[in-house]
Amino acid sequence: MMHACSEPARTPRTLVTPMTLRAASSRPRKLSSLDSLLRRVLGLATRLPSFVVLGPLLARLRTEESERQLKVALPRAVALTGGVLAADPAAIRAFDEEVGDVVEALRSLDLGHPLARLLAAVDRLTLARGSEYCDDPSCAPEDRRAVMDCLAFLNDGLGSYELWANLMMPDLARRQHPTRVLDLATGHGGFALALKARFGPDVEVTATDIFEEYLALGRAEAGRRGLDVRFEQQDATALGSIAPGAYDVVMCTQSIHHFSPGMVARVIGEASRIAGRAVWLVDGERTIVGAALLALVASLDTGSWAATHDTFVSLRKMYAEEELAAIARMSPAVRAGSTITTGRVAPGFTYLRASPWSNRASPYSATELFSGSV
Ligand SMILES: C[S@@+](CC[C@H](N)C(=O)[O-])C[C@H]1O[C@@H](n2cnc3c(N)ncnc32)[C@H](O)[C@@H]1O
Repeated sequence: MMHACSEPARTPRTLVTPMTLRAASSRPRKLSSLDSLLRRVLGLATRLPSFVVLGPLLARLRTEESERQLKVALPRAVALTGGVLAADPAAIRAFDEEVGDVVEALRSLDLGHPLARLLAAVDRLTLARGSEYCDDPSCAPEDRRAVMDCLAFLNDGLGSYELWANLMMPDLARRQHPTRVLDLATGHGGFALALKARFGPDVEVTATDIFEEYLALGRAEAGRRGLDVRFEQQDATALGSIAPGAYDVVMCTQSIHHFSPGMVARVIGEASRIAGRAVWLVDGERTIVGAALLALVASLDTGSWAATHDTFVSLRKMYAEEELAAIARMSPAVRAGSTITTGRVAPGFTYLRASPWSNRASPYSATELFSGSV
């Protein structure tokens, strides 16, 4: 059985480290004084304990509701696992519905103290369900490119690549052979390139995305920087053709909010099958404060409606940590024997690690609210 465990909260503030990695911007740019100012704003934002105001306040209520929901939903999800693993469409539909219902229940909290109800109501208003320009094949190429440029600028300013690499460090370290890394939904490969730049021959990086256009930007940047990263087109939700254990670490950053809850559970399961060492999902956590601040920065930096829209919408679509933990507990990965850990990392990230190995000696701090294993 999985269990909730209350590890002592550690020190997210130590995560604010000097930036040593540069984002792989797809357009060479000279920093204007406005860019420098915005970069300072982002630098200041990384010193906040969190952009996410409501998440930690609602964590206990969400965890309690999750336990209630999973009592009913977990046995049903377990019963559907065989069908899901056999790719039976009816089982997948029913499984996705079960997972979706649990997440919906966590988003419809109407319990407890009136203040908690108010916070839950504000979170419901925060929640967006719209699609994003970066997923829309009919969106003009220059708009989609503006979205990727904006993402690189934000990631650079927030020091995201270094933060994530440090978080994953124990799993990335070279053992008998270079660590084989698969980055799903890589976009233009900013993080994949940052990993290669940092770990060099200790990692072999394959960066994949559903859009060839983004991969082409990544390939061009890899060529410019002399980084040996493979870019391949791959749907992150259809990993069936990849052999078990083909990679050591499978990761997906800032992308799971593009997927439904059931799909996230299935991606965790599939990724666990192909990752010998660990699966890492990192995303932002839903936040109206972060959405407003980063959308303003996006708008001033790019002047692009698509980039501003996607920044504002995506930060309102993201999963709260307890939602991610509930999804993971219903994932076929758990039945495959993975240990699942989720956590929050300042200034506004959530992560999930699934691994057949339970030992995890990350030098990096996170507030782990849930950790479970079969
Ligand atoms: C917000 S970007 C994240 C890019 C990058 N991982 C990062 O952290 O900066 C989301 C990416 O998810 C990709 N994506 C969406 N659905 C996908 C799918 N089913 N399979 C693979 N990639 C997908 C989009 O093309 C886009 O590049």
